Amino acid sequence: MKFIVAIDGPAAAGKGTIAKAVAKYFKFPHLDTGLLYRGVGKKALAYSRTSYYPEIAKQLALDLKPVDLEANDLRTPEVAKAASKIAVIPEVREVLLDFQRNFANQEGGAVLDGRDIGTVICPYAHVKLFITASAEIRAIRRYEELKNNGLEISFENVMRDVVSRDKRDQERNASPLIIADDAYEIDTSSLSANDAVGVAIDHINEKFKNL
Ligand code: C5P
Repeated sequence: MKFIVAIDGPAAAGKGTIAKAVAKYFKFPHLDTGLLYRGVGKKALAYSRTSYYPEIAKQLALDLKPVDLEANDLRTPEVAKAASKIAVIPEVREVLLDFQRNFANQEGGAVLDGRDIGTVICPYAHVKLFITASAEIRAIRRYEELKNNGLEISFENVMRDVVSRDKRDQERNASPLIIADDAYEIDTSSLSANDAVGVAIDHINEKFKNL
């Protein structure tokens, strides 16, 4: 059986939390596709200013290894920014596409979260969720998360990062962040994590029943 759950949305809207919980509930493997871009972004930071030249960025993506995705410093604001800069490069997206599609098409079902899963990677997904929240709520969540991880950062900087990352993700030509026509939108601004997960699971169960 193949059953693909595609979860998209902007940074810190709650899609990671929802994706993990949905994967656990349905016993599907989960791929956080942001990690792929973060992995390449981290290499770009370590390389040189020419990292963002398409041919060089493409090579960095080709060199990405599973072990690179296990690094414990992929969640920093610097890596997030580098990831969103690398993600505008079509050659990089092209390199990462097959891996994501193969993951999605495995037997037994799969959950993928990112920015273009329902629109480009798996336009034929069985369920598409689009998770949103206001920019301010998302910045507050990201600020709390970074602070809890021991990072010294001001709320203003986090807010600025969230807004500029949204803009770059939404305005790029290659696979921009847009809501798929057939996606089910969940605004988590005033929902607890548990409630948001509940809404997602109910929707997926409905789709399951009507397969
Ligand atoms: O989801 P996360 O915040 O970890 O993603 C980091 C960056 O990677 C995003 O800001 C976005 O630019 C890029 N990304 C993407 N497409 C995806 C997943 C992430 O462009 N499917």
